[in-house]
Amino acid sequence: MRTQVGIIGGGPSGLLLSQLLHLQGIETVVLEKHTREHVLGRIRAGVLEHGFAQLMRQAQVGERMDREGQIHEGFFIAHGGRQDRIDLRALTGGKTVLVYGQTELTRDLYEARDRSGGKVIHRAQEVTPNDVNTARPYLTYRVGNEVARLDCDYIVGCDGYHGVSRQSIPQERIKVFERAYPFGWLGVLSRTKPVSPELIYATHERGFALCSMRSTTLSRYYIQVPETDTVADWSDERFFEELRARLPPQVAQGMIVGPSIEKSIAPLRSFVAEPMRYGRLFLAGDAAHIVPPTGARGLNTAGSDIHYLYHALLDHYRSGDDEGLDSYSEHALARVWKGQRFSWWMTTLLHRFPEHSPYEQRLQQTELDYLFSSQQALGSLAENYVGLPF
Ligand code: FAD
Ligand code: DHB
Repeated sequence: MRTQVGIIGGGPSGLLLSQLLHLQGIETVVLEKHTREHVLGRIRAGVLEHGFAQLMRQAQVGERMDREGQIHEGFFIAHGGRQDRIDLRALTGGKTVLVYGQTELTRDLYEARDRSGGKVIHRAQEVTPNDVNTARPYLTYRVGNEVARLDCDYIVGCDGYHGVSRQSIPQERIKVFERAYPFGWLGVLSRTKPVSPELIYATHERGFALCSMRSTTLSRYYIQVPETDTVADWSDERFFEELRARLPPQVAQGMIVGPSIEKSIAPLRSFVAEPMRYGRLFLAGDAAHIVPPTGARGLNTAGSDIHYLYHALLDHYRSGDDEGLDSYSEHALARVWKGQRFSWWMTTLLHRFPEHSPYEQRLQQTELDYLFSSQQALGSLAENYVGLPF
């Protein structure tokens, strides 16, 4: 089989690129390791910045997102028993974010690919990029007992942090920057009315907590837990008791508790691999970089990679101009690192670090005091949260 762009990974990055290129008459094939049900079963991002939402509209998959997604004009930070609001709209000159789940937008992308006969091959095992340093790269993979070959002009690795693309690059050609945090986020999805109409990020001596949502009837809650904890350690009862203990009393009292319909732990890690290109293999999204989820940057940064790569491939196919492909890594990384900085800052501001000395704890409190005493500091937080320009 032959295509123009071979894409590894059928998560949001791979599907979005495939859909955008299709609309410009550029052929792609997506190779996804898992079934569609498995991909749609993962509960992950919930907050979309304006730029990501625009990309969905450009890909002609924004209709349901615009109908069902909720525009959020602000969020709260709970600290020291009180709640302070970050007025995103006022602080950014009118910008807001959209609450719409990654599961839903991935479903929208799959349906759009189906409607236009897009090729997404599920259960593709042993996907291997070959000859990426030549003008004729190809992918090999196996589905069941059938081994297949996909010839392409370019390969794009959208296969997430654990994927094969980055790992196929010789170690001496890639530099890795990383930081692991000694805790994770335990997340619970529950069919209950969210405790607050806007998100609450809470910092407390017992640890961080986040009250988020997917709709007016679907709540998404997270608490910081030690990295050694497992889901089995946390009954629903224990989870909600701990969540309540970390929220201001007036918020905790209003919380409606219901059985969890999903419960999972995500480890927290910052990671960047440079450059995001090796020959004719390009990396995008979590395949090249991940952030702790605190600042809601992961999917949004994947979106900016896709924006740059889409335009670069368009220039190549339309006018033979390779400038965009040649500068893709540099361009994408400039924004990636700003997302890294913001996620690290917000994680450091709001979590309990077991290794922190009393001095560092005081600095953390002072950072919060400063934030809420300075319009400039609030402006910086808001500008990053709604998303820096592409
Ligand atoms: P992925 O979603 O990881 O998709 C990669 C795909 O590749 C998968 O479908 C996988 O099955 C497939 N694959 C893997 N290996 C192979 C292989 N060898 N061959 C073929 N296919 C393969 N981000 C935000 O912007 N806002 C948020 O609010 C937010 N909240 C989050 C909350 C949590 C709890 C977590 C864990 C993450 C959150 N994120 C958030 C981050 C966001 O979910 C990720 O950044 C996003 O999923 C990245 O998309 P991707 O397509 O690049 O990678
Ligand atoms: C969600 C996740 C985040 O990381 C975040 O900062 C906000 C919301 C969520 O899953 O709803």
